[in-house]
Amino acid sequence: AAPPIIEVLSDKSSLVDRAYEHVLQMLQQAITDRGQATIALSGGSTPKPLYERLAQADLPWDKVHIFWGDERYVAPDHPDSNYLMSRLAWLDRVDFPAANIHPIPTADTDPVVSAQQYAQELQQFFQCSPQEFPQFDVMLLGMGDDGHTASLFPGTAALKVSDRLVTVGEKAGEPRITLTVPVINHARLILFMVAGANKQTALSQIFAPVADDLAYPSRLIRSPANNLIWLLDQAAAGGIPNN
Ligand code: 6PG
Repeated sequence: AAPPIIEVLSDKSSLVDRAYEHVLQMLQQAITDRGQATIALSGGSTPKPLYERLAQADLPWDKVHIFWGDERYVAPDHPDSNYLMSRLAWLDRVDFPAANIHPIPTADTDPVVSAQQYAQELQQFFQCSPQEFPQFDVMLLGMGDDGHTASLFPGTAALKVSDRLVTVGEKAGEPRITLTVPVINHARLILFMVAGANKQTALSQIFAPVADDLAYPSRLIRSPANNLIWLLDQAAAGGIPNN
């Protein structure tokens, strides 16, 4: 895999501006090239201002399809829901056709069933065979201070799942639904947004020449086609240089 592209921005607001530029460009390009664009959203707090910014963008929303890279196993109106955060910050503020919003189901009592349901929805939407991985135009990712991304947490079985599109992650015993590493790595653009000094230690492990991938799951995100961009603010980057 080619080395990741690292862009260090002075502060979080410039990081959000840069993320907006990358996302807008990729969505517009996808619509031009293929008539539609697909984006998988990340949860947490970092992307919220980006979603608020995207709500002001002038895009043909009927050509943009929204998916999630991971979801907490809670109802869609639960305060922890990534879906709810994205709706309030962005999706409810523009005229998305309901059919364009593809939330991760969390209603079944068994998260394994929900993971299978989402995998089927992806296979259907992307028209991919069981042997193929869907290719999202944009895969938005954050990184926890433990080096996790999506719901791929250190030392969990989800890190090794490579024969399925969606699997069950877990954080301290709480189930999560998450896209798997190969699906994430297959995106046309993988865009990390990492801000804050509390991420510095994990980032130094992520970019270390040698470290334990299972202890720092974001190390598993690599793009054979050189489509991986890390947007860091200075506080998170520390001594990590632009490249
Ligand atoms: C989630 C996210 C998760 C997030 C990181 C970073 O479901 O919480 O998908 O992977 O990106 O935990 O979160 P912050 O951006 O809030 O630091």
